[in-house]
Amino acid sequence: MKKNVLVIWYSQTGQLTNIVQRFCSSLDAAKIQVDYCEVKPIPDFPFPWKDEMHFYSQMPACVGQKALPLQLLNGNLKERYDVIVLGFQPWFLHPSIPTISIFENEILRQLFKDTPVITIIGARNMWLNAQEIVKEKLIECGATLIGHIALVDQAKNLASVITVQRWMFKGLKDATFFLPRAGISELDIARVSIFGALFSTHLLENTLEKLHAAFLSQQSVIVKSNLIILERTGVQNFRKLAAYIDKATDTAMRLLRLRRFAFILSKGVFILTPISSVRSTIIGFINQETLKKEITYFTGIKYQKGQF
Ligand SMILES: Cc1cc2nc3c(=O)[nH]c(=O)nc-3n(C[C@H](O)[C@H](O)[C@H](O)COP(=O)(O)O)c2cc1C
Repeated sequence: MKKNVLVIWYSQTGQLTNIVQRFCSSLDAAKIQVDYCEVKPIPDFPFPWKDEMHFYSQMPACVGQKALPLQLLNGNLKERYDVIVLGFQPWFLHPSIPTISIFENEILRQLFKDTPVITIIGARNMWLNAQEIVKEKLIECGATLIGHIALVDQAKNLASVITVQRWMFKGLKDATFFLPRAGISELDIARVSIFGALFSTHLLENTLEKLHAAFLSQQSVIVKSNLIILERTGVQNFRKLAAYIDKATDTAMRLLRLRRFAFILSKGVFILTPISSVRSTIIGFINQETLKKEITYFTGIKYQKGQF
C-alpha cells in the first residue's frame, strides 16, 4: 500500500511554493502519494504589498498571533496521513499570520493529531522564535516533529534588510549593481531535492526516527550564534512595540505609533544592528559554552519552553 504524505503551506511570493515542490520532486512517486494543500488567508496578502504601512501594520497581529479564516486550496483531503510536511515563513520574528491560521483551522488541526511532521522554513535569516512557536503548536495538536529544514537568504544581514524591502514593496528580486539578489538562492532551493530523497528513503524503510540526523548531515539547518542574540533582542523589542501600538486609544494614535515602528525597522535598523552586533560579539565571547548548547538546541527538533 502507498504511503500518504500531505504538504501544507502558504506562500505570498511563490518562493515557498518552489521550495516545497522541490522537496516533493524527489519522493518515490510509485510508492508515495502526495496531496498538496496550499492555504490562503481571507483576505489574502497581496504581493507586492499594497504599500509600506500595510506591511508594517501586520506586526502587532503577528506578535499577538492573531489568526485569519483560511481557504484550503485542496478540498479532497484524506482522513489521515503518514507524514505532514509543513512549509512556513516567519514574519516579524513570529510565524506569519497565514501560518498561525493553519493551527486555528479545525480540519488541519485534526489532521496533525498523532501525525509525524516535517517543518520547512523559507526565511530571510531569523526564524528561531517562529520555529519555537510552531513546535509548541504542533505539541498542542498532538503532532510529533520528526525533521526540520531551514532555508535562508545567504546575503549579509543588512544587505538583505534592503533587498527584502525592495522585493516586498516593488516585487523586484534581481541583483543590482551594488545589491545581491533577494531571497533564497536558486542553488539552495535546488538542493532541497536532497532532503526530499532522504525523506523518501526513511519513510519507505520505516526509519523516520533517523530522519533529522540524516537531514543535518546535509546541513538542513545552520544556526549562527550572533543571530541568536540579535533575534532575542528583536523579539523582546517587538513584544514591547506591539503592546505599545495595541494600547493606542484611537486610529490616529495607532497610525502614528505604527509609523514610528516602521521608521525604526526600515531606517533605525542600520544604526541599531551594528550596535547590537558589537554587543552580541561580546556576549557571545563571554558565553561561548552556553551559545554552543543553544546552537545544538535550535538545530534540533526537541522543544523546551521559554527560549525567547
Ligand atoms: C511581513 C513580513 C515580515 C517578515 N519578517 C521576517 C522575519 O522576521 N525573519 C525572516 O527571516 N524573514 C522575514 N520575512 C521574509 C519571509 O519569511 C519570507 O522569506 C518571504 O516573505 C518569502 O515569501 P513566501 O515565503 O511567502 O513566498 C518577512 C516577510 C514579510 C512579508
